[in-house]
Formats: sequence, C-alpha cells, structure tokens
Amino acid sequence: MYILGISFGKKNANTDILVKEALYGARQADPEADIKFINTVGLKIGRCIGCGACSTRLEKGGDNDCVVKDDFQMLENEVRKADCLIVGAPVYVLQPVGQFKDFVDRFSCRHDVSAVNWVLDRRRTGEMPGDPDAFPQERLKRRTVSYISVGGATTQNWVSMGTAGMHLFGISVMMKVVGNYDAHNMGTTGNPYLDEELINNMHEMGKRTVEAYSMDDKDIKWYDVQGQGTCPVCHQNLLTVNGTTTVECPICGIQGKISIEGDKLNVTFSEEQQARARGTFAGLREHTTEIQGFGEICGPKIMANKEFLERQMERIKNFDKCINE
Ligand SMILES: Cc1cc2nc3c(=O)[nH]c(=O)nc-3n(C[C@H](O)[C@H](O)[C@H](O)COP(=O)(O)O)c2cc1C
Repeated sequence: MYILGISFGKKNANTDILVKEALYGARQADPEADIKFINTVGLKIGRCIGCGACSTRLEKGGDNDCVVKDDFQMLENEVRKADCLIVGAPVYVLQPVGQFKDFVDRFSCRHDVSAVNWVLDRRRTGEMPGDPDAFPQERLKRRTVSYISVGGATTQNWVSMGTAGMHLFGISVMMKVVGNYDAHNMGTTGNPYLDEELINNMHEMGKRTVEAYSMDDKDIKWYDVQGQGTCPVCHQNLLTVNGTTTVECPICGIQGKISIEGDKLNVTFSEEQQARARGTFAGLREHTTEIQGFGEICGPKIMANKEFLERQMERIKNFDKCINE
C-alpha cells in the first residue's frame, strides 16, 4: 500500500504537523505501508491555462497528460500512485490556499473517471482512435482520502469554505472521502501539539483512512467527530438557496428539500439524488453528456453568424485601439 500525505502549508508549520500526525495514525493501520509526505510550498505549480491539449490528446488516441511542464507532474504522479491520501491545506481568505486550487484545476478534469471512460468506450467501438488498453488504468484506480483544513480564526466564521473547498480535490477521480477536519483556531492554539484532542483526532482520521481502503464503500462510516453535516454525501453545511423549499449542495450538486420545525431546519436528500452526486460515476456522467452536447448546439449558431462574430472579435483583439476611437 502507498500512503501519501500532502501539505499545502508552510514547512514544519500547522498543516505539516497535522498531516504528519495523521500519517502516524495511518502507520498504525498498516505497519508495512510505504508512506511519503510532500510539502508543496516550494513547488512551482502554475495555473491551468485552459489550452485543452489534454482532452485533444486523449481524443486523438494519446494519454491525458498536461502539456505545461513544472513541478505539477511530480505531485500528480505521486497522487496517481497513492492508494490512501491525507491532504491538508491552510485557509487563505475563507478557502483553501490558491496553490491547492491550481493543483485541483490541473489534476481533476483530466482524471474525470466518466470523461476518460467515455473516450475509452469510443476507442473500443472504433469511433475514436487509440488502444483502450494502452491508457494506464492506475490513473482511475480506487483511493481513500481525508482532508484537513487549517485556519487561524477562533470561530468557523472565517473558514466557511475551508473543508468544503478541499472536497474538490478528489471528486472527479471518485476518491472515497473518509473524513475531513476543520482545524481552525490556530491563532490562539499556538501550536497543534498544545491541543491533545486535535492530535488524537488526526491519528484516528489517518488510521481510518487506511482501514477504509480494504472495506466496501457501503461499510465505510464518515469520520464524524465534528458531526455528520447537512449533506449526507460530502457532510458539508453549505447550501444554495433559490427562494423555494428546494436547496442544493454546492459541492455534490444534489437537490434536497427543506422543512422548518420551530427553530430547527431539516434538509432531506432522497436516495435518488444521493446516487447522482458529483463524485459518483452517474453524477460525473451527467456532466460528460452535457459537455459532449455543446458542439452540436453552438456549432450551427457560430457558423450561421460567422461574419458578425468575426467583426465583433476584431473589437476584442484590437481593444486598446478600439476603446480610444
Ligand atoms: C494571506 C493569508 C490569508 C489568511 N486567511 C485566513 C482566513 O481567511 N481564515 C483563517 O482562519 N485563517 C486565515 N489565515 C491564517 C492561516 O490559515 C493560518 O495561519 C494557518 O495556520 C496557516 O497554515 P500553516 O501554518 O500550515 O502555514 C490566513 C493566512 C494568510 C497568510
């Protein structure tokens, strides 16, 4: 078994400590495992430039590698190899630090289990070029993961999108999330080692992340030391409201119904909705189907308005000149 800990925090600071302690817990669950820790702070991980070369390569029979070469590839290869992961990131301005998101942007779409399988299925039928068996299946393998969000604020008020944002890491590749931990309050804790309960919780979460690897998904219990949360899939408390009694979990993209009893808000998500959560194959496939339909819808519109659009685009390409005319 290969267990990987990643910290997006400063070297030897709070996030490093918590991720490493979770790895000590992981060690208890598997004394033989290969365990590696990576701190990303010195890594150069540029943003996804949206060039689309990865999708084009895949559709032309190649792999799904990124053409932008920097330290991203090293981290990506480690994640591809890992069976179990502990990922920690500090909260910067309410969300996981930007480098975390840059990694997610470059990693996630290219490893979307539904999108890759969509292409591989078409290779099998000959609709697309390439050998379906040449694609490294390891890239789509099952993994378990737990997330640690680290903030300085004394209340959750300033880490409101911390743990929720971390779930974006493994959704496309369908990582099985065992738990997440909102470790805020670092500003007054001083050092995580001064909070014994926090350290014990890290050990337990690390241990459970590894134990879950050999369990059926249906038998894995959410690490609920901080509660079950509102959404039964990602266990976060964020909801999108639209003025009706239907609400949506912005992480999982599933709809629930709200009802109010006195001061108590109940939110229920049907089994059917849970089965189409963003991190399931069905949920990802909805999006693949949507994207694959884009060309058919906008292609004719673009062709019918070709000259008009060319004229309009001149205003964009020569903006500095046109704006002053
Ligand atoms: C630019 C910046 C923005 C931050 N924003 C928040 C924030 O919105 N909420 C919060 O609780 N802590 C915030 N913090 C504090 C860090 O989350 C906290 O210091 C954390 O321990 C850093 O992780 P590290 O010690 O592993 O590097 C911020 C820190 C920096 C440098």
